[in-house]
Amino acid sequence: MKVVVTGGAGFIGSNFILYWMRHHPDDAIVNLDKLTYAGNLENLKDVENNPNYTFVQGDIVDADLVEHALKGADIVVHFAAESHVDRSIHEPAQFVMTNVLGTQVLLDASLKANIKRFHHISTDEVFGSLPLFSKDKFDEKTKYDPRSPYSASKAGSDHLVNAYSATYGLPTTITNCSNNFGPYHFPEKLIPLAITNILEGKKVPVYGDGLYVRDWLYVEDHCRAIELVLIKGKIGETYCVGGSADDINNLTVVKKILRIMGKTDDMIEFVKDRPGHDRRYAIDWSKIKNDLGWEPQHNFDEWLEKTVEWYRQNTSWWQRVKDGSYQDYYKKQYGSV
Ligand code: NAD
Ligand code: DAU
Repeated sequence: MKVVVTGGAGFIGSNFILYWMRHHPDDAIVNLDKLTYAGNLENLKDVENNPNYTFVQGDIVDADLVEHALKGADIVVHFAAESHVDRSIHEPAQFVMTNVLGTQVLLDASLKANIKRFHHISTDEVFGSLPLFSKDKFDEKTKYDPRSPYSASKAGSDHLVNAYSATYGLPTTITNCSNNFGPYHFPEKLIPLAITNILEGKKVPVYGDGLYVRDWLYVEDHCRAIELVLIKGKIGETYCVGGSADDINNLTVVKKILRIMGKTDDMIEFVKDRPGHDRRYAIDWSKIKNDLGWEPQHNFDEWLEKTVEWYRQNTSWWQRVKDGSYQDYYKKQYGSV
């Protein structure tokens, strides 16, 4: 089977390729990635010489290139996106370009290539924000209510996927997943930013009151959910994927990291809040559990510790990533923190 993975040099895409090649060694993988600031081929050094792995550098907005890359493919797993909410607030245009237009170009090419399955990786952020201290959760029937340029562009891409399924009969599936964490997570996101700042002896910026809640999922659990949807999922369906049983707010996450690393809470610096900051995310993942038998297998506290250890052991990976344009972004976002 030939599987085209878009955005395979990013955080989740690279974890997915490594996972898929471990579990499906006979499949041919094509990784189509533009290599933006977030793409890093170092993540894939373990498979780069595997004859079943091919890398194609290119933009998913480029219709000719995409058509060429999809020739003979059976499955497309679409991760490629601009993924960071704060960057979408500074510069929304690229988010519409890649996330909306890029997805439409891929959908067109998938129709032409007679793809057997187009799987779209989406996010719980399309559902908007839940109130703090409530028991409410997002599920597959939750109305879309995106509130950032990032989530609006992801919502647009989800609607296009469903439209291509209804109108043209493209065999699609979608997963809407919560916040992932684990190896190769780009250090602009809360957990790797906190760990690497602490390793550098810098403070950890916490937005607003820090009482915002995210639903944390270890990245390998997400990869296994995608695998199950590809193998057993029903065409045309959406599956919500999440990790946490109980609410954990950002301040608690950062304090846990500080404790693991033997540091005190005075390394926390409260900074100005993210505009339009969604208060709380929580996912009801009973559909994927009941229909496909999936549930998260990685406990947050244990795998947070292992993630800290991964960053300790892979200093050169994150030091290289935090160089160059990252420093410009950091100054723009955090000033002197
Ligand atoms: P990431 O930012 O780490 O990686 C994105 C990858 O896409 C990079 O390799 C980048 O080079 C590539 N890319 C960007 N624009 C491209 C373009 N125009 N053409 C080709 N390649 C391009 O992102 P991530 O955190 O790995 O997220 C992957 C997907 O999962 C995204 O669609 C995101 O919306 C979704 N998602 C992420 C999370 C999370 O917690 N990180 C949770 C739910 C859903
Ligand atoms: O929910 C899924 C989404 O999770 C994905 O769709 C996105 O691609 C991914 O980036 C992530 O979005 P968030 O905005 O939730 O992740 P981030 O790590 O940027 O922020 C997590 C929380 O931590 C959020 O409430 C904002 C807060 N935060 C973040 C940063 C970077 C801080 O308090 N300080 C920070 O410096």
